This record gives sequence, structure tokens and C-alpha cells, in this order.
Amino acid sequence: MSVGVEVEVNVDDENAESVFGSRWCCRICGSECEKLLDFGRQPVSDDFHAAGDVDSEYFFDLCVGICSSCSMVQQMYEVPRELMFNADYPYRTSTSQVMQRHFQDAAQRFIETELNGTDPFIVEIGSNDGVMLRTISGAKIRHLGVDPSARAADVAAEHGVKTHVGFFGKETADAIRVSHGPANVIYSSNTVSHIAYIESIFSGVDSLLTDDGVFVIEDRYLGDIIGNTYLDQIYDEHFYLFSCYSVREMANRFGFELVDVEPLVVHGGSLRYTLARCGSRRQLSTVERILAEETERGINSREALDRFQSNIEQTRDELVCLLRRLRADGRTIVGYGATSKSATLLNYCGIGPDIVSFVCDSTKEKQGLVTPGSHIPIRAPDSFRNPYPDLALLLAWNHRKEIMDKEREFQRRGGRWILYVPSVHIV
Ligand code: TMP
Ligand code: ZN
Repeated sequence: MSVGVEVEVNVDDENAESVFGSRWCCRICGSECEKLLDFGRQPVSDDFHAAGDVDSEYFFDLCVGICSSCSMVQQMYEVPRELMFNADYPYRTSTSQVMQRHFQDAAQRFIETELNGTDPFIVEIGSNDGVMLRTISGAKIRHLGVDPSARAADVAAEHGVKTHVGFFGKETADAIRVSHGPANVIYSSNTVSHIAYIESIFSGVDSLLTDDGVFVIEDRYLGDIIGNTYLDQIYDEHFYLFSCYSVREMANRFGFELVDVEPLVVHGGSLRYTLARCGSRRQLSTVERILAEETERGINSREALDRFQSNIEQTRDELVCLLRRLRADGRTIVGYGATSKSATLLNYCGIGPDIVSFVCDSTKEKQGLVTPGSHIPIRAPDSFRNPYPDLALLLAWNHRKEIMDKEREFQRRGGRWILYVPSVHIV
């Protein structure tokens, strides 16, 4: 197989699997990947429709495998990017107080360590509503966000954050370099793994970064995903599931070096990878330490994904059984957080409005619509409180502490939370 044919293989079309079987080419290195996880037909996870307007929903085969050479865990089919990320992309990073603090801390670190020279400049790929760049803007440091969501960019502008509305790639990077000069830091949180055509990101970074600058990527960590059976971290937007090993391989392939890696608690466990041009920075010992841990745990292997698959099936079976039993007993169940993650959980488990009567979510853009594929109505958080349901399925489990603290009254009145990670349980 050659990289040349790989673009066509990975684009979703009805015949793709029958023509190419369950093998395809790695989007990073062109070696062979094999299908190991199969979630069946899934909708676009952030494409929320009105209840009467679901006929145009787009579905694709959500399948994941691992590259036999660079070990990158990746999806088999690529959803066209405009279907996932467009002006109406409803996700707003700043809905969580914890995430706000996380991004303030990240910005403050950059200000103190990388942006302390003369007239520094930082670019963020996937800047959403500007939650990280608000702190940078407040410190009067030159910045530019790049994000395809015009609505999110409008919110960023209200907070003094400048955004180029569009996708990041070589052309955009060249234009930014001409208009603003080189960037000392290029930062991207939970975005690089969304981009199948990754070579374009790296050539953009190569064009825009100063000689001694850093490209800092944060993303959900494969080790935590497998270790905690986070089955719902696999959905259209998470095209790649990064590990320290696969990111190091990817960086090397595109002329960069992984010089630091830092575990983060957000989203159930993430890593912050610091990449620099080859030879421009000393590699810190954290890289070797986390690589050694990965080898010991065997997470970059086919066997790890096979184990993950059987744990996923167990979670699905236990959750469906529990929910059906509770409904048969006449209990009311509501979902909490119309997360993109929940698209995989709800559709893979076949959970619909007969089981979960509605999902509440604080994002105005999602309220009044239905969950993708499973068509459960989405309501404002007020609906959660009058009256409280007997049980709540915590779909936004990565914000568990924040939500449980906010909804303490629910538990005080006897309400119980249903969780499905790391395994199915009630609290
Ligand atoms: P995320 O898991 O991708 O960060 O999405 C979290 C979703 O949960 C988002 O739609 C906002 C929603 N949410 C609430 O409804 N209430 C909350 O308190 C929090 C933290 C999130
Ligand atoms: Zn590969």
C-alpha cells in the first residue's frame, strides 16, 4: 500500500469497506493499519438538529486501528471536516470553570517562560471562544487564534481575542507569517488529534514557528483511555488517539522533536507535548520516563486495543442492562451534558428517549435540539431541577466534580448519579 492511495481509502463512502477490507494505510507514515475497534454507524458528534429535521444527519463507520509501524491509533474513515467544524460548531470551551482555570494557567506559564522576550507572538490552533488567549490578550501580548467556527470567534472578540476564521494549514501559516512575523509559541489543545491531514499542520508550523520556538499540543491520552475504558472518547472528531510514543514518532517524521511531556488531569487524563525543531532544545527526562511507562504497560500494541474492545463490550452490556432494569422499575432517568462523547455512548448502546427522557446542557446553542443519532431532547439545566429525576446518567463525566458540586441538592434529595467509567456504577 502506498500513501498515495491512502486519502481515497480513508474518505467515508458506502463501498469503502467492501473494496478495501479491514486494512488501510496509516495517515502518518503510510504503513498498514488493521481494524480492531468497530462502533458501527455513528453520527457527526457535534451536529445537533431540531427534532423535526433529522433526515439530513450524516452517518459514518466509526472504526479504529493501530499502525503496524508508528503505532498511531487512528480511525479508518475520515468525516469531511466541514461537516464537523463550521460556523455553527456548538462546543464552547469556557462552559467549564475547571477548563477556564486550566487555560488561564497554561497562558500564564507561556507568559512567564516562552513569551518573555521582545514583542513575542503566540498562535493558537483551534482557539474556540478564546478562553486561553483572553489571558494573553489581557497581558497585551500579540496573539492570533485560528478557528473555523465564526460564532465561537465572535465570543472570543468580545473578550479582546483576535481570531482568523478558517482551518490552519500551510497556506494560512504562510499568510500569518507575512502579516505578523514568526510565532514563538504555537499552541493547540484538543485540536491536532482532530485533523486527519496532519502533514499540513506540521508544514504550517514549520513555516510559522521561530527557530527556537515551541509547538505545544495537549490531547486526551491513549493510556488513560484504554486504562479507564473511556469508550466514548472515540468519536468522529478524535481521529487520532495520541500516546507519547506515537507523538514522538509523528514529530520525528515531520522534522520536529518531542522535548517534554507533562500529564494533565483534564478530560479524564491528557498529556501536554512540547515539540521543537530538531536540535533546538534539550530533551527533558520526562519523555523517556513516560515512554518507559508505556512500554511496561504495553499500551502501544494491538493486544492493548483487543483488551480495550472486550472491556468496551462489557461496559455496554452492563450499562444497557442497568438502565433497562431501572426503567422497568418505573424510575426516571435524565442525561447530564450533551457532550460530543455521548454520541458514541448513546448510539453504540442504543440508548434513546425511551430510556433517557432528556439531556440537560448549559450550552445555549444545543438547547431545544436533539442529540445526534439518538434523538433525545436537550434542555437547559433548569429542567433538571423541576422536578429532579430519580437518576442522572453523567455523560459529562470529565466535569464530574464541578457538576456534582453544582447539583449537590439532587443527591441530598435522594437522586443518584449513574457513571460508566471506569466501569458501570451508581453513586
Ligand atoms: P466536554 O465534555 O466536551 O467538555 O463537553 C461538556 C458538555 O457539558 C458541554 O456541552 C457543556 C456541558 N456542561 C454542562 O451542561 N454543565 C456543566 O456544569 C459543565 C461543566 C458542562
Ligand atoms: Zn504509521
